[in-house]
Amino acid sequence: MRHAVIMAGGSGTRLWPLSRSERPKQLLDVVTGEDGAPRSLLAEAWERLRAVLPAEAIWVCTAARYADQVRAALPGLHPGRLVLEPVARDTANAVGLAAALVADADPDAELAVVSADHVIRPVERFADALRAAYDALATRPRALITLGITPTSPATGFGYVQRGAPTGLPGVAEAASFREKPDRATAEQYLASGEYLWNSGMFVWRARTVLEALAEHLPQSAEGLAAVVAAPAGPERDAVLASVFPTLPKISVDYAVLEPAATEPGRVLVVDLDVDWLDVGSWPALAHTLDDDGSGNAVRGLAVVLDGSGNIVLSDDPDHLVALVGVRDSVVVHTADVTMVCPAIEAERVKQLLGAVEERY
Ligand code: GDD
Ligand code: MG
Repeated sequence: MRHAVIMAGGSGTRLWPLSRSERPKQLLDVVTGEDGAPRSLLAEAWERLRAVLPAEAIWVCTAARYADQVRAALPGLHPGRLVLEPVARDTANAVGLAAALVADADPDAELAVVSADHVIRPVERFADALRAAYDALATRPRALITLGITPTSPATGFGYVQRGAPTGLPGVAEAASFREKPDRATAEQYLASGEYLWNSGMFVWRARTVLEALAEHLPQSAEGLAAVVAAPAGPERDAVLASVFPTLPKISVDYAVLEPAATEPGRVLVVDLDVDWLDVGSWPALAHTLDDDGSGNAVRGLAVVLDGSGNIVLSDDPDHLVALVGVRDSVVVHTADVTMVCPAIEAERVKQLLGAVEERY
């Protein structure tokens, strides 16, 4: 059967102070749905998958501390489909845990892995690409498939997949190589070559295949996760998970699995995902989801900018006005307990700023 899991356990530190460790970006109502109402990135991810799968085939993997917020955001989520990590050990282990539980329920499961921090339009084209990826497993059952996006800039925050030999299936190629988060010069070279796609961070494979790949490339995780599912479901399994999971190496699935697997010819495939795609990873990215004030400023809430453009201004406090004059290309975010200001070009450093704040308070 076809299943999917939404990875929803990230902490979204680069969108601080709106995104907080107790309420990260995927749970914030930052997008405007097609009905005009505000909703969360997680709810968007759920709706996108519902275009392809029934609710009982959709799993969500997140940190245990977000469980109640996830249930509240997704009323359609089946109780047995919420996978809770005791601590965050990054996506290699989150994907591994979800795959192990899905395979335990359905040994032949085909499993899509999707992110909870994307805005994708139109949904129908996403649905077509996802179906094409599942279909490709019929002829390439051992494949690790990524959905690839045509790059528009030499972004260094993404993975890059090099398109290789055609597979004979429309829109599906073999990946000649995979490189996670290259430096700027390398990213520029990749973009100029025209041979690379961005890894969307969404994958399709058999649950069993990704567990085999983990066993090969990250054996410590594979062994730990095997011990978890060997325990009977319920309190015993929870106890093994609580003791084993925190010991697993903290690494993303891109570095741990995709990079090494792509050196094996034909093992990684890439399906074209031809959509408007936004990874809401930082303030400038989130700005695309805010309103334009008519002068080139992205604003939300009570905000006024006089003689300035290129600003991102957000007041999350309905009684608090943020007013700027003569300011350009800056980010000003006001919440009930924190005000954060930085030049837009330095927005990636918000994560570092949060680190400095946490050292002091
Ligand atoms: N359950 C769980 N546990 N989910 C997690 C964890 C974890 O420990 N860490 C991150 N996630 C979730 C995030 O909430 C997000 O939905 C998704 O996994 C991807 O994590 P990010 O931290 O946002 O990854 P990234 O954006 O730096 O990089 C990935 O996505 C890019 C495209 O958006 C990579 O796959 C890149 O190669 C890719 O280009
Ligand atoms: Mg991301």
